[in-house]
Amino acid sequence: MNILIVHCHPEPRSFNAALTDIAMASLTQEGHEVHVSDLYAEGFDPVERASHFNSRADPEYFSALTEQRHHVQSDTLPSDVQREIDRLRQADLVILQFPLWWHAQPAMLKGWFDRVFVYGGLYSGTYRYDRGPLKGKRAICSVTTGAPASTFSPGGRSGDIATLMWPILCSLYYVGFDVLPPHITYGVQGGGLSYQDELAFHDHLEQAKHQWETRLRHWQTEKAIPFTGWQDWDEQGQTVDAHPLRWRT
Ligand SMILES: Cc1cc2nc3c(=O)[nH]c(=O)nc-3n(C[C@H](O)[C@H](O)[C@H](O)COP(=O)(O)O)c2cc1C
Repeated sequence: MNILIVHCHPEPRSFNAALTDIAMASLTQEGHEVHVSDLYAEGFDPVERASHFNSRADPEYFSALTEQRHHVQSDTLPSDVQREIDRLRQADLVILQFPLWWHAQPAMLKGWFDRVFVYGGLYSGTYRYDRGPLKGKRAICSVTTGAPASTFSPGGRSGDIATLMWPILCSLYYVGFDVLPPHITYGVQGGGLSYQDELAFHDHLEQAKHQWETRLRHWQTEKAIPFTGWQDWDEQGQTVDAHPLRWRT
């Protein structure tokens, strides 16, 4: 199988980088072909703006959606965006590896969504959610946090992890992915701050690496998050079902 890791961390010796290395090594060993989009190392520009687009559909007024669709149709998307789309289209599994920054993904990764998930290419009014163009592919977020697990419970001081993850999981589903429950490694403090003594902290991280490697063995058979789909919605886009994020532990 073809696997793409979208790696979003500025430091090659970070814990995030270690998790990407582990994923690469174990998936390669299992016979998969693994590619990495290393957003910082490749200097990806995460800011959507007019100057990315040549031969504009509308030179007077910049609409990102209009230009994205126009440049999909004329096959003239910015080369860095086209490269990422090609990688996504080839992949059977996409892993997003990132730290939680300000209760969300880092701006670099948010901008990757803004620029790469192009209107008219990776979704349209008709082709989205369970009819999205990337249907049949799987995606999983591997996220590290500084704060410990208990603080991410509903009502906890770090915020409910299911709520924090909702925008990114829903965005992946929007373009058609089967989204696996996220793999969250809690309590990874960069910068020397730790909630435990040094030895216990080291053990915690070693255990976390092992857990990620173990989790990855089951990516082809794991059950995806049961999002609602077109069958479940009325004309106003409402569903009678409750919030579908049932992966919370
Ligand atoms: C700008 C910034 C914002 C952060 N925001 C949060 C946060 O909202 N919640 C949290 O638990 N940790 C937060 N952290 C801590 C990081 O999640 C933590 O340092 C990281 O997961 C550790 O992995 P690393 O060593 O690979 O960077 C933040 C760190 C930075 C630099």
